[in-house]
Amino acid sequence: MVLKGCIFDLDGVIVDTAKYHFLAWKRLADQLHIKFTVNNNERLKGVSRMDSIEIILELGNMRPDLKKKEEYAALKNKWYVEYITKMTPDEILPGSTELINELRRAGIKTAIGSASKNTPLILRRVGIEKLFDAVADGNVVHKAKPDPEVFLAAARMLGLKPRCCIVFEDAIAGVQAAVNAGMACVGIGSPAILSKANCVVPGLKELTLEKLLQIKI
Ligand code: BG6
Ligand code: MG
Repeated sequence: MVLKGCIFDLDGVIVDTAKYHFLAWKRLADQLHIKFTVNNNERLKGVSRMDSIEIILELGNMRPDLKKKEEYAALKNKWYVEYITKMTPDEILPGSTELINELRRAGIKTAIGSASKNTPLILRRVGIEKLFDAVADGNVVHKAKPDPEVFLAAARMLGLKPRCCIVFEDAIAGVQAAVNAGMACVGIGSPAILSKANCVVPGLKELTLEKLLQIKI
């Protein structure tokens, strides 16, 4: 493989926003008297806001109409935005900026591929907007991972073929989206969970360009 582009998921790969998503979903679940645990939260990783609402309501065996679901999603997002508005550059996960800068110095293009509509706010808060040549996020794509749309859009924005790109993902749905896009994938997390990735590491700090070039695709 000739590596020309690296596409990063945002939540759980570059920043640890999963804890804020959990706190906001938990607050909504408590308000609706739905039992919601850290374990249940795993199912929401990488999943779009409206699909997450469906999962939570299913846990509570509730079937409200669409208007009500949109109200719940807006409420959760209001609480979530309160958390992320307070984020600082300290919340960038270890090794992320070092790896991205190394890739860019080597002429490799970098992009974000995230389901989140809050991507621009998070990038601004932690001060890393300038590290990416393109941002494909929930504001420009509509099909949720495991659909490959977000990664294909990122590659298109970079002007690259999918087979020249590596995706970095922490969610099962995200790894599957990379596979569906015909891209190589580095899983961030546990090999048992992200078994479809080409390789799995605990975090970006384990990686260098040299190590990336050694991955068997
Ligand atoms: C993904 C997160 O990146 O974005 C999900 O892993 C989240 O947990 C999804 O639901 C949508 O995010 P947002 O910020 O648009 O609600
Ligand atoms: Mg993620």
